[in-house]
Amino acid sequence: MDENAINNLKEALLLNPDNIPLKQYYAEVLLKANRLDEAEKQYVELLALYSDKKSEAGLARTYFAKGEFSKCNVILEEILSRNEHDPDILLLYVQALIKENALQKAVEIYTLLLKHNPNYRNEDIDGILRLPAHQSGDSEDEESGVFIQRPTYTFKDVGGMDNVKKQIDLKIIKPIAHSELYKAYGKKTGGGILLYGPPGCGKTFIAKATAGEVGSRFISVGLNEILDMWIGNSEKNLHQIFEIARQNTPCVLFFDEIDALGASRSDMKHSSGRHLINQFLHELDGVDNNNDGILVLGATNTPWNLDSAFRRPGRFDRIIFVPPPDESARESILKIKLRGKPTESVDYAAVAKKSDHFSGADIEALIDIVIEEKLELSFADGIPKPMNTKDLINALKKHKPSTQEWFATAKNFALFANDTGLYDEILTYMKIKK
Ligand SMILES: Nc1ncnc2c1ncn2[C@@H]1O[C@H](COP(=O)(O)OP(=O)(O)OP(=O)(O)O)[C@@H](O)[C@H]1O
Ligand SMILES: [Mg+2]
Repeated sequence: MDENAINNLKEALLLNPDNIPLKQYYAEVLLKANRLDEAEKQYVELLALYSDKKSEAGLARTYFAKGEFSKCNVILEEILSRNEHDPDILLLYVQALIKENALQKAVEIYTLLLKHNPNYRNEDIDGILRLPAHQSGDSEDEESGVFIQRPTYTFKDVGGMDNVKKQIDLKIIKPIAHSELYKAYGKKTGGGILLYGPPGCGKTFIAKATAGEVGSRFISVGLNEILDMWIGNSEKNLHQIFEIARQNTPCVLFFDEIDALGASRSDMKHSSGRHLINQFLHELDGVDNNNDGILVLGATNTPWNLDSAFRRPGRFDRIIFVPPPDESARESILKIKLRGKPTESVDYAAVAKKSDHFSGADIEALIDIVIEEKLELSFADGIPKPMNTKDLINALKKHKPSTQEWFATAKNFALFANDTGLYDEILTYMKIKK
């Protein structure tokens, strides 16, 4: 609308100052013309005359356009408190919350929007809030959501962990590669592997490498991070994640922080948490749906928080302890991580020997310390200075291994809550039991 027309409207309004629809129209026009201060003034006056949703939403929109998101949100919160489900208003609220970085709340409101407007979809918002992208038929090879990755590294890039590699191979890789053989013998397949152990020892890393190993997609679900945001709509979303996996086989479906579903967490004791666990087990069992081609892996630092229903056959029926790397594993991790970087006659065995209790992540941190020192020395002449044995051994003192704390806790569970012998591996590792 051109300026002239806006001025005409203004004139008309001077003659009819209490004509609310006219005033609303004028305010709307001002907002569209990006004359935000004037729009704000009109809406404030309108609301003083007569409070209605249209003017409230208009004022909220004006604040949004002005970048005053918290003012915008105060109004929207008020509208919402009256049980409002208008998708435009909910969408505005979601957008303002995203601007304010209140993502958790944004997911909550967006979920509400979807609940009341089931056919509504906004791909931009889906992307930002990391909701699973809905499936379009043509996405054959396209990475259809942020969850889906195609890891490029394989078991070769994982140092040590021979037992874990072997178990993963036998339990989930072979059954997919040779499904006819398994069928011929009537041997059941299915079920997943749960990895547990101290932080930084390669649980997440090997899960990804498994996908690289079989050349499949990798779908990672951080339960703490994601499902918490979805309370209320979690079951549906969990189902959606499994559906995405089913449409992207073969794939590794990885549940990180699976203890988030643990029944001993107080919020999981409530019925909503129980529903979520049941939904998860239902999906895992693949009763209504076919889980062929899905390799299920899970990881946790606190297996003792996990509901025992998870461990039944066909579910996480193999539970593997991932200990800190032993000396020879540390040696291979050092070699892997230093590969292709400037080094000079490094005695890997000597560094491995002196790095007791170091996790893979600790070894990475160690190398990082040396790299930073070397970088500083290299700035002057621009020539990279190689890392050597002494550098690495000196750096050992500058980094405290991060695995010990976990054992202090784990020991108690292994000693006092080990009825089924589930934690024998911890005791063996700690040399408490043979
Ligand atoms: N065995 C290993 N071989 C090669 N790299 C490793 C190994 N273990 C750990 N790393 C390195 O350490 C990083 C951290 O490991 P990862 O994230 O897999 O630990 P995690 O066991 O999942 O820990 P958390 O319990 O904290 O989630 C990895 O990104 C990887 O680079
Ligand atoms: Mg991890």
